[in-house]
Amino acid sequence: MANILDAFKEKQNEERVYTGKKIKVGIIGCGWIAEAHLQSYLKCDDVEVVAFADLVPGKAEAFAKANGVDVSKANFYLSDKELIDNEKDLDAVSICTYNRQHAPCAIYALDHGVHVLLEKPMCVTLEEAIEICKAEKRSGKILSIGFQPRFDENMKMVKKICESGVLGRIYYIQTGGGRRMGIPTPFGTSFIQEDTAGLGALGDIGCYSLDMVLNAIGYPKPLTVTGFKAGLFGKKPEYLQKPEYTEVFGVDDFAAAYVRLEGDIVLDFRIAWAMHCDTPGDTIIMGTEGGLRIPSTECWNGSIGGPMTIYHNIAGECVETVIPEMNNDGDNFDKKIRSFIDAIEFNLPSPVPSSQIIYNQAIIDGIARSSDAGKEVEIVIPEF
Ligand SMILES: NC(=O)c1ccc[n+]([C@@H]2O[C@H](COP(=O)([O-])OP(=O)(O)OC[C@H]3O[C@@H](n4cnc5c(N)ncnc54)[C@H](O)[C@@H]3O)[C@@H](O)[C@H]2O)c1
Repeated sequence: MANILDAFKEKQNEERVYTGKKIKVGIIGCGWIAEAHLQSYLKCDDVEVVAFADLVPGKAEAFAKANGVDVSKANFYLSDKELIDNEKDLDAVSICTYNRQHAPCAIYALDHGVHVLLEKPMCVTLEEAIEICKAEKRSGKILSIGFQPRFDENMKMVKKICESGVLGRIYYIQTGGGRRMGIPTPFGTSFIQEDTAGLGALGDIGCYSLDMVLNAIGYPKPLTVTGFKAGLFGKKPEYLQKPEYTEVFGVDDFAAAYVRLEGDIVLDFRIAWAMHCDTPGDTIIMGTEGGLRIPSTECWNGSIGGPMTIYHNIAGECVETVIPEMNNDGDNFDKKIRSFIDAIEFNLPSPVPSSQIIYNQAIIDGIARSSDAGKEVEIVIPEF
């Protein structure tokens, strides 16, 4: 077995001969997550981070300096547009802005021939996601969405189990996640304001729960949604880092939905930034030959709450197979950046493609629309 894996490693290395050319990268939005991007780029010998942009005067430069960048060798700008317009040799950008700025920044970069690594959630609405996909198609550039749990060995195992056929035909999935007190305001209010985030728990951590199971089963098309979302805790001072944040809280902190997927599959989903419960439940994937239980996850980092179990029937007996937790070799954030750079250098497919994540966004959009309408809604994605 080891020999087979070694042979594969050698083949991969043979195929990937680095040219020595440096990929020139810009970072748009220099807040919390930008640090993880920058630190991972700094570990890549074939990357030069040449430019930084942030709307807040001085923030981009201070950010670069704090992260050990030689500021005399980089350029600093006050918006994504300024950066893209001035950096003529730019190959790629990481878009690390708050959600409401994902679509405009991604479309502008793609339309100017720049590869894009776009943070999650893809954007706020399905309409925006469609416009991003159109820009990607026009540009022929790589667009990857920032779902680092995809690179986690446990998440890969979930996918392997589903693809192996051991569960038979999958017909029902329960997924979600949550925290008792976890409304994120570590560096201000960009996650909880309507005009910056646009979505609360639903977009922030809901997109990860959806990606975990949808990626595992090949991202079937979503058809209809009955959704509910509400902001139930964000106006209570004890749930926020500063009491005055209650004044600007304007998004959901809980969402739930029942989603019909192509292939006669139903998805039962719930997500919470705050709740009076330890967990809204484990993830369960039920098939005609077996069921998989994934102990409640901390969504964003791909971790699971313990070993997974497959429930099946062998020779007429109910049997359980425990899948031990897998060890990760390396950092998922580093892998997210490396996979994006490799896709650029070696003309590989996007590591986390928009063709999948548009369905993730369509479900989020459907939940919001259904909640507003108070009834089930259809998901319609036009051809583009
Ligand atoms: N992958 C992960 O684990 C992870 C973790 C945290 C956040 N995120 C995502 O990253 C995004 C940013 O989150 P954050 O916590 O870093 O937010 P943040 O508010 O700390 O930083 C966002 C920054 O973007 C800047 N900005 C906004 N629009 C801009 C524009 N057009 N041009 C230049 N700068 C602009 C803002 O001024 C701000 O400084 C969010 O979409 C969030 O969902 C992902």
